Amino acid sequence: MELRSLGRTGVQVSALCLGCMNWGDNNSGTSEEDSIEIMHRAIDAGINFFDTADIYGRGESETITGNALSVDGHRDRVFLATKFFNKMDEGAPNSWGGHRFHIIKACEDSLRRLQTDHIDLYQMHRPQPTIPIDETLRALDDLVRQGKVRYIGTSTFGAWQLVESLWASKELSLNRFVCEQPPYNLLDRRIERELLPFCQTYGFGVIPWAPIAGGLLSGKYRLGQPRPEGARYEKGAFANRDNDSALAAIELYLKFCEEREYDPVHFALAWCAAQSGVTSPIIGPRTLGQLENYLKSMQLTITVEDMTKIDSIFPPGTHVSNYYNANFGPNTRWM
Ligand SMILES: NC(=O)c1ccc[n+]([C@@H]2O[C@H](COP(=O)([O-])OP(=O)(O)OC[C@H]3O[C@@H](n4cnc5c(N)ncnc54)[C@H](OP(=O)(O)O)[C@@H]3O)[C@@H](O)[C@H]2O)c1
Repeated sequence: MELRSLGRTGVQVSALCLGCMNWGDNNSGTSEEDSIEIMHRAIDAGINFFDTADIYGRGESETITGNALSVDGHRDRVFLATKFFNKMDEGAPNSWGGHRFHIIKACEDSLRRLQTDHIDLYQMHRPQPTIPIDETLRALDDLVRQGKVRYIGTSTFGAWQLVESLWASKELSLNRFVCEQPPYNLLDRRIERELLPFCQTYGFGVIPWAPIAGGLLSGKYRLGQPRPEGARYEKGAFANRDNDSALAAIELYLKFCEEREYDPVHFALAWCAAQSGVTSPIIGPRTLGQLENYLKSMQLTITVEDMTKIDSIFPPGTHVSNYYNANFGPNTRWM
């Protein structure tokens, strides 16, 4: 597995990051046993970078991830990322957000669930413009100085918000964010406009989420056909995240892959990992078989001709579908 520098830090992380969002009954239903098997197989395959969040199953993903890493010395070999921000207790109005009261408690809770004394990358899951960024940064800086957190990062921030954070860090001599986690895949290329050039200029690592658009780029969702049973976008909150313009572009994409004998998952992931400025796409296997398939993408070499053709299907800087806006609304409006 190729290793890459995480932004301007000296840390070397694998070119694929393992996303832990599916673990547990409150998530996609991947059992603890299967989740642990997937995590241990990922480590065997050379993946040393894991990403979870407190909100995934309201602590369930972190607990299962902690169980997997607590054996065979795995914890020390993995660069472990988690996130805070989302509401963890419906009965407690301050149990979310980017303020000191919540950040310190959220970190202590994550450390306990993950069975570790430090988090390697502690990320703010969404920006919160109503709170001055210096309050957030100072609380995070305290956690770094206490040794509970190694590096701090963000998710789904706008470039201007990250510039503002660097300005505050510099002015107040606080640890700065070193990594951003944005949505990025063939269907959603918005970050190419500002965020990616910003990250390259200022030495941020970039770890894209949903590199195969949550499965939309796998070929199992087809225009005019019912959604496959048991798939993530079959029903529920995600069901409105595809639309006909996205599915029409996907039809062109599948033809492109068929002509070149590419597996659509392999190409979509390899394309994401090959983009300038990208550190490690975060893969989201629900099963061991899906993990094995993601791993094969690292053998695919993308040609200049492929890139040109792909740009004619999914134009650079654009967003073919509204599937994120439908659910994430204002949170991604500024990207
Ligand atoms: N920061 C954020 O706001 C944010 C948001 C989302 C995710 N994330 C992080 O990013 C990680 C990855 O996100 P993601 O899960 O959306 O990534 P993804 O890799 O784009 O999508 C993963 C989903 O695609 C489907 N899939 C995977 N391989 C397949 C195959 N070979 N054939 C058919 N379907 C396949 C599976 O869903 P089904 O089998 O269930 O259909 C799987 O759970 C998460 O685990 C999490 O760590 C972060």
